[in-house]
Amino acid sequence: MSKEKDLILGHGDECDGIEEYDNALPAWWLGLFYFTIAWAVVYAVNYHFVANDSQAALYDAEMAAAAEQWPQQEITQVSAADITEDAVDAGKAVYDANCVACHGPNLEGGIGPNLKDSEWVHGGTLTDITRTITEGVPEKGMLTWGPILGPQKIAQVASFVYSAGGGVPDAAGTPEGEK
Ligand code: HEC
Repeated sequence: MSKEKDLILGHGDECDGIEEYDNALPAWWLGLFYFTIAWAVVYAVNYHFVANDSQAALYDAEMAAAAEQWPQQEITQVSAADITEDAVDAGKAVYDANCVACHGPNLEGGIGPNLKDSEWVHGGTLTDITRTITEGVPEKGMLTWGPILGPQKIAQVASFVYSAGGGVPDAAGTPEGEK
């Protein structure tokens, strides 16, 4: 019987006449192979538990840094009591001066969505509307109006949009706007 190293595996002649010996893998190769397995274990433990720099942790860290650098817009608190006739009138003036180009003179929409129907992308309660106007949706072309208008005008224009548009009552029962 021949030595093990001379055994031919026997499937080689299908492949252009090249034959394959059944030899043991070289020690350096096996060593490398086992090393990668050991490395994977060490790496995984370090990644998930020791250094804890998983994608989720990095994301949280980046968000925390961003929140510090760009603090959240203070959202003006507007309640049903703020929807007075004066506020709505003042809000209409703010609307006419700033919003008509995109939302239309009668809130019917254009570049921006219709604000009169009861369909809302970002919610139709007074709080939602105030928040959307304050923070904007910059990536869609809706400006961050908070710093531009200031709290008073924000409250007024939100009251106007809520009552003249399709505002919906919230859990606190802020009344439905007239449509
Ligand atoms: C340059 C165009 C532009 C101007 C000016 C603009 N908006 Fe918008 N607005 C948009 C766009 C675009 C959206 C849709 C954002 C989205 O799809 O997420 C939007 C969304 C909104 C929404 C949310 C609608 C919903 O369905 O949830 C409100 C409320 C709103 N705008 C109010 C205002 C008010 C009030 C003003 C004026 C102070 C104003 N917008 C000025 C473009 C504009």
